[in-house]
Amino acid sequence: MIKNQWYAILPSKEVKKDKIVGVRRLGLNLCLFRNDEGTIGCLIDKCTHRGAAISKGEHKGNCVACPFHGIRFDKDGKTVLVPANGRIAEPEQRFNVKSYLVKEAHGMIYFWNGDKEKATEKLPFFDDQITDDMVYSEMSDLWHAHYSRCIENQLDVVHIPFVHYNTIGRGNKTVVNGPAMEVMGHTILVSGNNSVDQGQAPIKANELKINPHLNLKFIFPNVWQNYIADDLRVVIFFAPVDDENTMFYIRFYTNKFKMKFLNQTMAYFGKFANRVIERQDKVVVETQLPKASSLLGGENLLRGDSPIMTYRKIRDTLQKESESS
Ligand code: FES
Ligand SMILES: [Fe+2]
Repeated sequence: MIKNQWYAILPSKEVKKDKIVGVRRLGLNLCLFRNDEGTIGCLIDKCTHRGAAISKGEHKGNCVACPFHGIRFDKDGKTVLVPANGRIAEPEQRFNVKSYLVKEAHGMIYFWNGDKEKATEKLPFFDDQITDDMVYSEMSDLWHAHYSRCIENQLDVVHIPFVHYNTIGRGNKTVVNGPAMEVMGHTILVSGNNSVDQGQAPIKANELKINPHLNLKFIFPNVWQNYIADDLRVVIFFAPVDDENTMFYIRFYTNKFKMKFLNQTMAYFGKFANRVIERQDKVVVETQLPKASSLLGGENLLRGDSPIMTYRKIRDTLQKESESS
């Protein structure tokens, strides 16, 4: 995981007002709940008294109460009541639970993986490209793969005619031109442009341009968009569960029609198309070894793998920067 980054971890709708959610993300067992104002709290899901999962407890006003002996914590992990000591007693702060910084935007909960005082304002998303009139459907799936492999798969223009030979990769376009790529800070933009092998040499990347109406965009650490058309997008949040598992949240966005219900209908069916493509990728990516990718992973890369190499380089730099800060 990269330190000091906002990771998209869970759709907002998963944490309902009266629900306490236990979820594993970034190798941590987390307890998520909302206080009376609806603000989300994120605590380590292990009580400091005798180790029970707090997420199995109950909502008590602004707090969550551990199921074992009822100690109550607020959204910042502060101890509010120790029932065994009586209401009259000052709550002992030695029971405080570690809390994490979380924010909500775009229907998603983001988790700050780092020092709270270093938290940045901006959350990774495609604010300037996904307009408010776009509706979306969402599906999720758990992959037994490290999130770096999942992201690389979505930047891989070489696999398309093989893994997706009967869907989005129909036509046997095995020759990889470029791909065209632009890097802007922590964002990678790629336009694939494969062609059928007719004995020609592939076109070099510097002879190709990004197509603004058809491209892939990745924002570190774990958000990706397929710009399929001006009125059609697929967005994936790759939520790391731990070093071997990743939860996918895949959205199909559209504003193709004037009437909202038509967009909703299209998004609903788009979800099933996404599922077919995603399952084709999943069976292959889950077999990749080693589980996590790395900059010097001993793989023999192709020229068409340049977006993957770029992803690895930026990730490596961000990891080193955060370790040394
Ligand atoms: S283990 Fe949580 S209150 Fe005792
Ligand atoms: Fe794929």
